Amino acid sequence: MFRNIAVIGLGKLGYPMAQFLSSSGAKINCYDNNKNLVDDLKKNHGAHLHEIGLQNLVNNNNDLIFHNNIADCINDAEIIYITVPTPSKLDGSFSNEIIIQILAEVADAIKKQKNSKIININSTVQPGSIEGEIIPFLENKSLKNNSDFYVLYNPYFVALGSVIRNLEEPDYLLIGSSSIFASKKITKFYNSLYKNPKIRLLKFKEAELTKLLVNTYLTTKISYSNFVKEICKNFDDISDLRVLESVGLDRRIGTKFMLPGGPYSGPCLPRDNLSLKKFCLDNNIQNSFSDEVQKINNVTIENLYKIISTLKNNHKIKSFGFLGLGYKSNTQCFEESYSIKMMNFLRSLNIDVFYYDPYLSEKFDATKVMTFEELTSKSDIIFLSYIDQHFNSVVQIKQKKNIWDLWYHFSDSKFNKIFHKESDFKYFNNQNLEKDRKIIKFNKKTA
Ligand SMILES: NC(=O)c1ccc[n+]([C@@H]2O[C@H](COP(=O)([O-])OP(=O)(O)OC[C@H]3O[C@@H](n4cnc5c(N)ncnc54)[C@H](O)[C@@H]3O)[C@@H](O)[C@H]2O)c1
Repeated sequence: MFRNIAVIGLGKLGYPMAQFLSSSGAKINCYDNNKNLVDDLKKNHGAHLHEIGLQNLVNNNNDLIFHNNIADCINDAEIIYITVPTPSKLDGSFSNEIIIQILAEVADAIKKQKNSKIININSTVQPGSIEGEIIPFLENKSLKNNSDFYVLYNPYFVALGSVIRNLEEPDYLLIGSSSIFASKKITKFYNSLYKNPKIRLLKFKEAELTKLLVNTYLTTKISYSNFVKEICKNFDDISDLRVLESVGLDRRIGTKFMLPGGPYSGPCLPRDNLSLKKFCLDNNIQNSFSDEVQKINNVTIENLYKIISTLKNNHKIKSFGFLGLGYKSNTQCFEESYSIKMMNFLRSLNIDVFYYDPYLSEKFDATKVMTFEELTSKSDIIFLSYIDQHFNSVVQIKQKKNIWDLWYHFSDSKFNKIFHKESDFKYFNNQNLEKDRKIIKFNKKTA
């Protein structure tokens, strides 16, 4: 058990992580160099993140203490969680620059305070970083590895919007380590925090690679689904949805990510694929795989553009409404959102763009509307980006509307519906709202 934990970096992962770790009973010492963010966290407790379950943790009166510098933050901490950005470089690899900046201060503090620390890196790093860059950097500061400091690599598999659930119920805990002492400490801690956790203790490079391989497997599944979609759209009598669901019923494959929907997006999946590509390049490993996955993803985005062109040319669409502009619900993050890419394309065709999104506060080249009624009255077609509990109360209109339901959210029965004809359907969304709508199945025939 740790009595004092430091968390450095209080962003989309770090702040929920700090709140979650405090449920262990430890005192959590927090530091982020963005002072405005810290002020906001003190006042609003991460409300801007929209993470489901976060406010429950906040309401538990968790013991979070904010510090103005790293030395104070780590002073009495036995373990330091580091969850700062590792931005992608132009070559696709992740930069450790911010981690190194922090470690310089951590090293100075360890020397002054004369007590050893476990340094737990949660940020995603390029395979080889811990042994090739991070440990040597600390050693160059005249600190002894596995004596003055102990490094762990412990990335969490979280998806924005469900970060708390993913932290609380991980499939397994991935830990890279080279020290029996630190491995035992973290294992004991997680055994006290979780009920029967699956803990995978690996060598650093194995853990670094595993983190990437999990996400690149997901991108592969998404691109595979989109490849199947491409096959099926050549046949009027084949439903891509039913084919993919049937393939996924084989338990060796699984139904998750087996939808003929859109491209992969967000802050992690696209850049993890590029990072794996760079890792293979650096190690002279033949890899056409990453390129192929990305190529299919690019084609999937291009197909969305083609559908938009068809909408304009054949269906005379003059206005377009996004029900959700970010890449998913319950996050203010819109990194690599295909809806934003579509928005830019629509604007280049002089199509008016409206959006209803309760999470985004940034300004976009589109008109934000505050009600779903406004969205439907102003838009010739509604693009349903994601399903969201906020839409339950707003999706109330009775008139028939053109809905581009990319992810089949409004299917009444995933197995029985033939989607590739244009007609009126009675159907409901995940939240069991039964509605009459007209689905335009553009992504079958007109793509
Ligand atoms: N968000 C996710 O879903 C997710 C999932 C898995 C892995 N990760 C990885 O976790 C890491 C963090 O991601 P994130 O989404 O939380 O990023 P983020 O940008 O939301 O948050 C990072 C935080 O670090 C702070 N920071 C930057 N420089 C700092 C410094 N020098 N000292 C102290 N604080 C500093 C920033 O102010 C920010 O609040 C990345 O490596 C990311 O790849 C994120």
